[in-house]
Amino acid sequence: MQVIVLTGASEGIGAEMARQLAQRHGSGLALVLAARNLERLEVVAAECRDRGAQTLVQRTDVGVESECRALIQAAAQTFGRLDGLINNAGMSAHALLREVHDLSWYEQLMRINHWGAVWCTHAALPHLLASRGRLCAVSSLAGLVGVPGRTAYSATKFAMTGFFEALRAELGGTGVSVTTAYPGVVDTEIRRRGYNAAGQPAGKSGLDERGAMPVATCARLIIEGMEQRRREVVMTAQGRLGRWLKLLAPSLVDRMALAALHQDARPR
Ligand SMILES: NC(=O)c1ccc[n+]([C@@H]2O[C@H](COP(=O)([O-])OP(=O)(O)OC[C@H]3O[C@@H](n4cnc5c(N)ncnc54)[C@H](OP(=O)(O)O)[C@@H]3O)[C@@H](O)[C@H]2O)c1
Repeated sequence: MQVIVLTGASEGIGAEMARQLAQRHGSGLALVLAARNLERLEVVAAECRDRGAQTLVQRTDVGVESECRALIQAAAQTFGRLDGLINNAGMSAHALLREVHDLSWYEQLMRINHWGAVWCTHAALPHLLASRGRLCAVSSLAGLVGVPGRTAYSATKFAMTGFFEALRAELGGTGVSVTTAYPGVVDTEIRRRGYNAAGQPAGKSGLDERGAMPVATCARLIIEGMEQRRREVVMTAQGRLGRWLKLLAPSLVDRMALAALHQDARPR
């Protein structure tokens, strides 16, 4: 039986990945589901058990190091091994830097999106080395290209991108794979829940949501990438093009990033 720890499993892409993993592997899988909202986690866990998987639910704020370490310890103690860690928990943010007065939420966002993944990964690494397991990081296209209004969010996702790229190189030959996923705009509530300039829930999206990827598609692409031990999953044609264009015509990519914003969220 394989054991996978999944952070940010109470909502959105994480909850859908949990259901799809349970569907694929049934009784061959134990899922350790982490997030802050225990009630929502229990609902997702029940859906996974209905599909045959074993589950352990652990209330975890990934912005707190001791809670990340306790999560991995609980997984290893309960199931005796660890085969995969999916660092998916994350928050969004949208604000022009010039409109931000108190930067404290920038630090908090870095703790959740970047440090949470670092703390969980560090704690999980001995177990993954023993099982020749799989690491997965859910970054964002905003972790490959700087997006206006997203100085906080892009910085956290670039940090993740760099951390996992360096770690992948470090782990060459150990049998542990590192897959970094770069979703584009996916149809979840993340942007409405994310910080605005005052560090409060934004309640609306700063992006143009037309053509958002269905959450089921995004979850499937991440799972397939991880299972095939791919280095990266860059999710949209525009994302793949933007990556190359950045080398050739970076100012064009700046304009593409600006065009991704909702009309009302563009800098004036
Ligand atoms: N949706 C998109 O368009 C998109 C695009 C690119 C990348 N991504 C990335 O994909 C990942 C999942 O996003 P999503 O769209 O599924 O977002 P979502 O629907 O808002 O779900 C976010 C998940 O992260 C958890 N979370 C947030 N803060 C946490 C904390 N401090 N500790 C533990 N868990 C925390 C939430 O659970 P609790 O609130 O219960 O803690 C929830 O389960 C994120 O890393 C996000 O940056 C999303």
